[in-house]
Amino acid sequence: SQSLKKSYEGIFDIGAAVGVREANGTDTKAFPILDKHFNSLTPENLMKWGSIHPRLGQYNFEPMDRLVALAEKIDARVIGHTLVWHNQTPDWVYEDENGERLSKDALLHRMEEHIEAVAGRYKGKVFGYDVVNEAFFDDGQYRTSKWYETAGKDFIKRAFIKTQEVDPDAELYYNDYNMWKPEKTDAAIQLAKELRKEGIRIDGIGMQGHYGLDSPSLEIIETAINKIADAGFKVMFTEVDIDVLPNPVNRHGADIDATFPADESYNIYKEGLPDEIQAKLVSRYKELFELFKKHEEKITRITFWGVHDGGSWLNNWPMPGRTAYPLLFDKDYQEKKDIIQAVIDVAQN
Ligand code: G3I
Repeated sequence: SQSLKKSYEGIFDIGAAVGVREANGTDTKAFPILDKHFNSLTPENLMKWGSIHPRLGQYNFEPMDRLVALAEKIDARVIGHTLVWHNQTPDWVYEDENGERLSKDALLHRMEEHIEAVAGRYKGKVFGYDVVNEAFFDDGQYRTSKWYETAGKDFIKRAFIKTQEVDPDAELYYNDYNMWKPEKTDAAIQLAKELRKEGIRIDGIGMQGHYGLDSPSLEIIETAINKIADAGFKVMFTEVDIDVLPNPVNRHGADIDATFPADESYNIYKEGLPDEIQAKLVSRYKELFELFKKHEEKITRITFWGVHDGGSWLNNWPMPGRTAYPLLFDKDYQEKKDIIQAVIDVAQN
């Protein structure tokens, strides 16, 4: 097939989330795919606090260094995901040496040290940061994370200020899932406006894009794109994938329904996708890209949350033992030609 990144040159960047095996070259089959199709790389896990800064003062930079080297090799931009999140952050971060919760000042100081170490090391090498990830609930209220409990929304402001100070040339984003939900979109925009009003830079808002076959609707996604752009912020789709399996979670992020059987009865396509579901997947990708293309002036990047189906987080979420089909390459790293062609056709029309 033709190359995704070449087809979309001058329209938007085409990205993929990668892990340690792609970064260090163990996954030899991923390399030619990344090289041919992608000009933006996001670390799926290895820049998160627990991975890059597992113990107080101890940094584990090597996997991320390798990702940066890979990006240089294939001439891709690097997205820094993510500096501050409530998830994959070890408990010690919030505590003193006696296990007591840190004061606001002490916690923010620790956060700033982290940003200084991480963004400092990759200064000039990261194109843009998901500075803060998932700080809101779906209803638009601030998420009651340990960050928020201790520091209120100041943790967000201070994170943006610090990142800009450490790497002034990097773009700065707020990133969240279910960003099509009006309350959540509005809350993120409100936050971004507040930051700007206080002279704190924020360049864009990331809509993750973990979608289903039928929901959310194109209309509701389009409304969110327009709102974000009208407020003066760049839009990017940062974690795109499409889940074709039954899913007990009222779309991503809510607690798992405990009554949902943890057996394999919902793993309904383990022998392969039926033709009519594959056809739906093709048309879903096509219509999503038509929407993205329609708003090319507002959108700067589309990143897929993984390279191939076998490596997708959706094989393990919301429960292990799923056989998921969310991406553009199958579990054997083969191109899904019908989807890729449809997506490329959109770029060329
Ligand atoms: O690395 C350990 C390994 O040593 C251990 O043996 C294994 C056993 O469970 O766990 C491994 O860590 C897992 C890690 O992925 C690396 O594979 C964690 O358990 C697992 O929780 C973690 O999941 C990641 C998840 O974020 C964490 O919340 C997914 O891979 C990653 O795709 C997902 O990405 C997030 C974005 O960052 C933010 N938006 C939502 C998106 C999907 O949840």
